[in-house]
Amino acid sequence: EMSSTVPKSSNIFWHDCPVGKTDRQNLLKQKGCVVWITGLSGSGKSTLACTLGRELHTRGKLAYVLDGDNLRHGLNKDLGFAAEDRAENIRRVGEVAKLFADAGLVCIASFISPYRRDRESCRALLSDGSFIEVFLNMSLELCEARDPKGLYKLARAGKIKGFTGIDDPYEAPLNCEIEIKEVDGVCPSPSDMAAQVIAYLEDKGFLH
Ligand code: PPS
Repeated sequence: EMSSTVPKSSNIFWHDCPVGKTDRQNLLKQKGCVVWITGLSGSGKSTLACTLGRELHTRGKLAYVLDGDNLRHGLNKDLGFAAEDRAENIRRVGEVAKLFADAGLVCIASFISPYRRDRESCRALLSDGSFIEVFLNMSLELCEARDPKGLYKLARAGKIKGFTGIDDPYEAPLNCEIEIKEVDGVCPSPSDMAAQVIAYLEDKGFLH
């Protein structure tokens, strides 16, 4: 069972280093956190992640984007889209995001992460309130109309099986920190969405 919280090895020991998270945060003048962006394919996750990353960089804040499509070329290249593979994908990303937050960065994770249970496991890793779930609540109609990679078309034609929103579930968050919705079928601009996240981070003191 991959998602077990108990290590498989027994003779392992935890080491603490003399420089800690607080020292790094003081150096960087920011607080480490994870901005977890979830939503359907084509909802604008990667665009928001990059816009937010750029905006933080411009403000002199250190951020790093972890993106589903990108990590599936490396760390997660052994994983597909079956439920257990998606769960392992999100488990690994959650652990990596936790390390980035511990390093003092604003880690922006952009993954469909369709299963509530997997997202909640990641949240539990950041038990100090530094897990900020952003739900890009765009309708399937809007995402399918955009179809930036032509994947919905392939899924509808039965050429991709188990595509999220078509023949695989998306479980919407019940208690996310930020929800971004379309208004009259129109999605807010990337900079408006990023501004909403920045306002939250400022309000909660993550950017000092
Ligand atoms: S997940 O569900 O969180 O593990 O997915 P993620 O790692 O974010 O990868 C999503 C991108 O993979 C492409 N793709 C699929 N998505 C959903 N279902 C199926 N079956 C599938 N096959 C390939 C797709 O390009 C997703 O990209 P985004 O950026 O979300 O559009």
